[in-house]
Amino acid sequence: MDDPNLAHEAARTLARLLPRLEARYVKGKKRPLAGWNDFMRRLHAHFPRLFALYYYLYREKYDFFYHLESLLNTLADSWLARAADLQTLDAAREQTPAWFQSHTMVGAVCYVDLFADDLAGIKAKIPYFKELGITYLHLMPLFRVSEGENDGGYAVSSYREVHPPLGTMDQLADLARAFRAEGISLVLDLVFNHTSDEHIWAKAALAGDPDSLDIYRIYPDRTIPDQYERTLREIFPDEHPGAFSPLVLPPSPALRRGVGGEVTGGEVWVWTTFHRYQWDLNYANPDVFNRMAGEMLFLANVGVEVIRLDAVAFIWKQMGTSCENLPEAHILIQAFNAVARIAAPALLFKSEAIVHPADVARYISPEECQLSYNPLLMALLWESLATRNASLLRLSMSERFQINPACAWVNYVRVHDDIGWTFADEDAIRLGIEGHPHRRFLNEFYMGRFPGSFARGLPFQYNPKTGDARISGTCASLAGLEKALAEETEVEVSLALGRILLIHSIILSIGGIPLLYLGDEIATLNDYGYRDDPAKAEDSRWVHRPRTDWTVYEQRHAAGTLPGRLFQALSHLIHLRKSTPALAGHDTQILDVGNPHVLAYVRQHGHDHVLILASFTEQPQTIPANEFRLQGLTGTFTDLVSGATLEPGQDLGLGPFQFVWLHAQ
Ligand code: GLC
Ligand code: GLC
Repeated sequence: MDDPNLAHEAARTLARLLPRLEARYVKGKKRPLAGWNDFMRRLHAHFPRLFALYYYLYREKYDFFYHLESLLNTLADSWLARAADLQTLDAAREQTPAWFQSHTMVGAVCYVDLFADDLAGIKAKIPYFKELGITYLHLMPLFRVSEGENDGGYAVSSYREVHPPLGTMDQLADLARAFRAEGISLVLDLVFNHTSDEHIWAKAALAGDPDSLDIYRIYPDRTIPDQYERTLREIFPDEHPGAFSPLVLPPSPALRRGVGGEVTGGEVWVWTTFHRYQWDLNYANPDVFNRMAGEMLFLANVGVEVIRLDAVAFIWKQMGTSCENLPEAHILIQAFNAVARIAAPALLFKSEAIVHPADVARYISPEECQLSYNPLLMALLWESLATRNASLLRLSMSERFQINPACAWVNYVRVHDDIGWTFADEDAIRLGIEGHPHRRFLNEFYMGRFPGSFARGLPFQYNPKTGDARISGTCASLAGLEKALAEETEVEVSLALGRILLIHSIILSIGGIPLLYLGDEIATLNDYGYRDDPAKAEDSRWVHRPRTDWTVYEQRHAAGTLPGRLFQALSHLIHLRKSTPALAGHDTQILDVGNPHVLAYVRQHGHDHVLILASFTEQPQTIPANEFRLQGLTGTFTDLVSGATLEPGQDLGLGPFQFVWLHAQ
């Protein structure tokens, strides 16, 4: 990629393409096009990188140059269609690229329909988002989908249409503007690994159109699918075994070419990593890259500031490999990144890679994804609650938390998906913990089957062949509240609230953008009603995707109610985060204070620092003053959470699930 010849060829290619681009956009126009010079500046700055990445992926295609030129036209078209206020935002973001590292950033995620019926409803909730302090809002996929099963919106039938019951694209653009005016960045998914089988590209493929057949990975029989499946992991084994689903296509000569073989019986096989109605896109075809670049820039021009790149691990396939996290997947995302830098520079990417932590980290860089979910922290927070032991969390964070300083983690305790136990076995074994049995224990624990478990979760995608499973459930139900309310006493209710606050205190302080799964702040419990809906019954993730009950939200200011107790404590923490500059940025030093139940770290920004300790047990703990001295932490501290002071030489007592944010006086 750093080949000097490539730089030379990139310059030559651009010099050849520019006159054609100018002939198309500039010549003969009476007035100079607004923003054209800015576009040229960024094109010159980023084309060499884009060229090198695109060449790497597509140099063997006969029509490489044709596709490169049409990509350039898409970039120019999109930039010229970009609204003036978004171009202003572009300029501002280019000036302060680290804006998202501010301690004032707080993220949240919700479903449009489940939270507020439709886009108009979401707009009407802006005062609530402000009350909570939200500055980053991820709306779950709101694009046109088929009725019935659609994987919670992740089976997209059109990236350019809002699902009609939710509203229109104009409303979405208006919402994005309203958010921006209130300091809230709109985050949406780019579901770029697959489309639904009802997308126009899929329909054209079903009709036998050869170019459209090439958009997907469709095979005439099981020969090639069988070869691939020898090395593939099953992602949704409950739904279909392996990674391919059968389809019936009308026979035609074009079809034979499109699927690369003779179709005799009419049955062909399409690559479907997830559900059978989600067809994986074929990124080996440059036309697919160009089309998706167009869809991405369209969304950027609607006012989306952060694109959540869904299922990044799966986008490139190579026979004989797991087809996850391949080098080309990174090249592809970097190429999309270069596209954004040229035509929508304010746009950021968040990677959704729920894989081995070393693989998660590889997606994170300013040239690839500036933001990434932190699934390791998420899984280990729950692991530590189950074991009352923060050792694996501490070990993993001390070695794996650091990322490129220009990037940020998105730290969360729950989202719309299941919990997968994605810690590294090689980390665990250093503590004498074996990966496979430990995951089995965690699954048993969170399904409430392990003796003494406080959790009420459900299995997701149990695979009898491997014994693997993941866990569904809301934060409150997994943390013990459902069980405590149904079977126990106020003591257990308080402990459950303590667990919920403890793990939130960590995502709010550890470095990065905290992300709240809306509903968690009012202690929403599992909703088993999904079992009555045939479109949902097979997918236990719906247990933690209930329709919002606004009468519960109305209790949030009443300290005597359960939602009120949690909401007020959590609001207090959010407020503290937003008024503590030491929590900005990424500088996090994980400490060992000699107590396996306690996670400790120092957050530092500039000269300001905060020492954080969090206890994962219901048993009271004491951290001797000597531990602080050994860490070089002397002086008087104030606990920002409780207001208490800790004098030099004083031991620190921690109650059940207590956490302290100690600020040096
Ligand atoms: C992502 C989503 C998940 C969905 C999958 C397939 O992982 O988070 O909900 O099922 O992609 O699109
Ligand atoms: C798998 C995928 C992840 C997806 C999840 C949905 O874990 O790796 O991308 O979110 O399935 O359950």
